[in-house]
Amino acid sequence: MAVGAVPQIKIFDTTLRDGEQSPGCSMNLNEKIEVAKQLERLNVDVIEAGFAIASPGDLAAIQAIAKQIKGCTIASLARALTKDIDQAWEAVRAAESPRIHTFIATSDVHMQYKLRKSPEQVLEQAEAMVKYAKKYVSDVQFSAEDATRSNKEFLYRIFEAVIKAGATVINIPDTVGYTTPWEFTQLICDIKNNVPNIDQAAIAVHCHDDLGLAVANTMAAVRAGVKQIECTINGIGERAGNAALEEIVMGLVTREDFYNVSCSVDTTQIYRSSKLVANLTGSVVQANKAIVGANAFAHESGIHQHGVLANERTYEIMTPYSIGLPKGRMILGKHSGRHAFEDRLVSLGYNLNKEQLEQAFEQFKVLADKKKVVADEDLEALVQQKTILVPEIYVLDHFVINSGNSITSTAAVKLSYMGMTKEAVSTGDGPIDAAFRAIDLIVGLEFSLESFALNSVTEGKDAQGEVMVRIVKNDRIYIGRGLSIDIIEASIKAYLNAINKMIDELQLAKRVEPDG
Ligand code: KIV
Ligand code: ZN
Repeated sequence: MAVGAVPQIKIFDTTLRDGEQSPGCSMNLNEKIEVAKQLERLNVDVIEAGFAIASPGDLAAIQAIAKQIKGCTIASLARALTKDIDQAWEAVRAAESPRIHTFIATSDVHMQYKLRKSPEQVLEQAEAMVKYAKKYVSDVQFSAEDATRSNKEFLYRIFEAVIKAGATVINIPDTVGYTTPWEFTQLICDIKNNVPNIDQAAIAVHCHDDLGLAVANTMAAVRAGVKQIECTINGIGERAGNAALEEIVMGLVTREDFYNVSCSVDTTQIYRSSKLVANLTGSVVQANKAIVGANAFAHESGIHQHGVLANERTYEIMTPYSIGLPKGRMILGKHSGRHAFEDRLVSLGYNLNKEQLEQAFEQFKVLADKKKVVADEDLEALVQQKTILVPEIYVLDHFVINSGNSITSTAAVKLSYMGMTKEAVSTGDGPIDAAFRAIDLIVGLEFSLESFALNSVTEGKDAQGEVMVRIVKNDRIYIGRGLSIDIIEASIKAYLNAINKMIDELQLAKRVEPDG
């Protein structure tokens, strides 16, 4: 390190594992690859791409990510079991820099009731499985699940043993979001002082947000000198979620004077990463969320507006541009050409290939015909909608609605399906219910609609409506997103998007069944 250089801390992103495994946040293969590509642009150090043993879909996604993503480490999670580790290795072996991340619970309550093992058995298993993973790969991470509720003396022993067995990273998870910044700092210092070979491994932390302290605990760990922090985009994850990457990174950047560490993340990719994950998981970001919420850089009060106009630093400790929010606004309309369209996309941070650009330009023209001005938010919504991520099994051909406050709503919907067209008519409680019922008649599958949300992409009467739906089949949740200036069309598109994802997954599952 050069004299005076700020030490680097590694950013380990687990959006695709801990984030994706939380209910309602599941993504299909193409969506996971899309997120991994965005994490590559964001320049994180490690992508935990999934839990290989969990399902054939997880395995395939990690393998695809390991092959395609460059410049960072790709990890798969594995319980401390040989079959998990074998599968994790199968998943990451093609990566430029592969890592196996194995874990076992170390708290009394987990060992007694979940594992039904004594501490000695757990210690032996952890040590043996780290050795086993080392046969495959040099980079092995070990996590002591529920570390913050574990006996400290036991933690020292297990960490010493796994480091001796070859663990390169030892992770201290606050699995249930129980600790506080003061206790966590103390725990890290105690581990440093009581694990004799601690200098042979990097210390990592992984915090959950059950008491709203995930980021605070992570930042305390940074001050205590850890070398890797684990987090997810928008803080998605089990229960209340994980520590949010954007909050940690902007904390490190904005207060480098205090934390005295830097990281490799390209902060100008934060906004796009957040949008992408929110769109693909249907996990909407609250308006007042730090860094990426819609109001994070909005100044409503007159006093604030006056201050910011005089000098941004009066009320802004970081600029919106630093997270990739576009500088200035440029309005496009139906007379805008391909160049202006492409230029604007590039300045918003989207570098589409020729085919994607062509597709997006076509959609832009359709939109610009209906809407006088096409704002940046419209363009982003349009680009992020990329239907290519979900196979177009059922596609809307057209619909006709008859509705009013004194009649029963009726919908006639025509869909194209594998070169054919299928049509159905249904009544319902309102036009959207009628349209969905007509689609149900065509599709003929059992599933339920769990939620429906409608947002407007921009302000104004001609704003595009963005609909998110969640449908459930066999306890699996499928998220669909639809966009249109017409909210019934947006609703139908969202419903079909979710249905197509469901059918695609059912077909994939059939393909991997032994007799399937
Ligand atoms: O929360 C947790 O303990 C985990 C581990 C598997 C690292 O996600
Ligand atoms: Zn976790």
